[in-house]
Amino acid sequence: MSRYARYPSLQDRVVFISGGASGIGAVLVEAFCDQGAKVAFVDIDEKSGIELAERLASEGKPKPLALPCDVRDIPAYQRTIAAAAEALGPIAALVNNAARDDRHKVEDLTPEYWDDCLAVNLRHHVFAAQAVIPGMKAAGWGSIQNLGSVSWMRGRDGMIGYTTSKAAIHGMTRVLAREVGPDNIRVNSVVPGGVVTERQNRLWRTPELDKSLMDAQCLKRRLVPEDVARMVLWLAADDSDGCTGQAFLVDGGIV
Ligand SMILES: NC(=O)c1ccc[n+]([C@@H]2O[C@H](COP(=O)([O-])OP(=O)(O)OC[C@H]3O[C@@H](n4cnc5c(N)ncnc54)[C@H](O)[C@@H]3O)[C@@H](O)[C@H]2O)c1
Repeated sequence: MSRYARYPSLQDRVVFISGGASGIGAVLVEAFCDQGAKVAFVDIDEKSGIELAERLASEGKPKPLALPCDVRDIPAYQRTIAAAAEALGPIAALVNNAARDDRHKVEDLTPEYWDDCLAVNLRHHVFAAQAVIPGMKAAGWGSIQNLGSVSWMRGRDGMIGYTTSKAAIHGMTRVLAREVGPDNIRVNSVVPGGVVTERQNRLWRTPELDKSLMDAQCLKRRLVPEDVARMVLWLAADDSDGCTGQAFLVDGGIV
């Protein structure tokens, strides 16, 4: 038996996650399936998305709906969200998770590259929210979560397109919460610190970075996607019904 919470309100709740095929997103997909939620997710990596859905089904878990989509293509993305709602029912919880923390130097930026950074790390959040808000209003309840990052708070250099996007997510979360609060829709950001994922290990997590994170964190252990998932579950459940407009840091105390 798990030592972690099971939320009765997540049973059969329709949850939509972007970037669900790998990393933190894949753990979110599995965590919501384990709670009995009806889960749909999109990812640009169609193969990994299908493999995840097949694996969960083969383990006897509710099979999530895996949909291929590039979240930078807003009309296609909004059509995909509509298709998910058509298949599973109105979306009650939206988790805007897809992002790409590519590195770049300011002197190498072009306007096109900058726009692409914001498209993959920021723009889709608000258009996904736009697509689900009418259904949430009709239902009288909704939870929207935006994945932020502590990187901009720590002044991390070398990825200004990503960090600028993540900083903007805080402001966007606060003003959207104000706008949809009267309809009982909550909007929060979940802000990870350095979390071990396949991509982080493959591209950025050198022994030096690992040591600097351990030195800077209050908690002297590596954060894992499950640490983030437990916060996301809580924010999608009725247990957090009084919380909106906030940033919830899951960073081991690094900020
Ligand atoms: N891992 C960390 O240390 C860390 C730290 C701070 C914040 N975060 C945030 O947490 C979230 C998840 O991060 P992660 O580490 O799991 O990332 P990841 O790169 O491991 O996974 C991101 C997923 O998004 C998908 N994706 C990328 N571009 C897409 C597009 N255009 N359309 C659709 N899907 C796309 C990828 O295919 C992948 O499955 C992100 O918002 C990230 O910024 C992560």
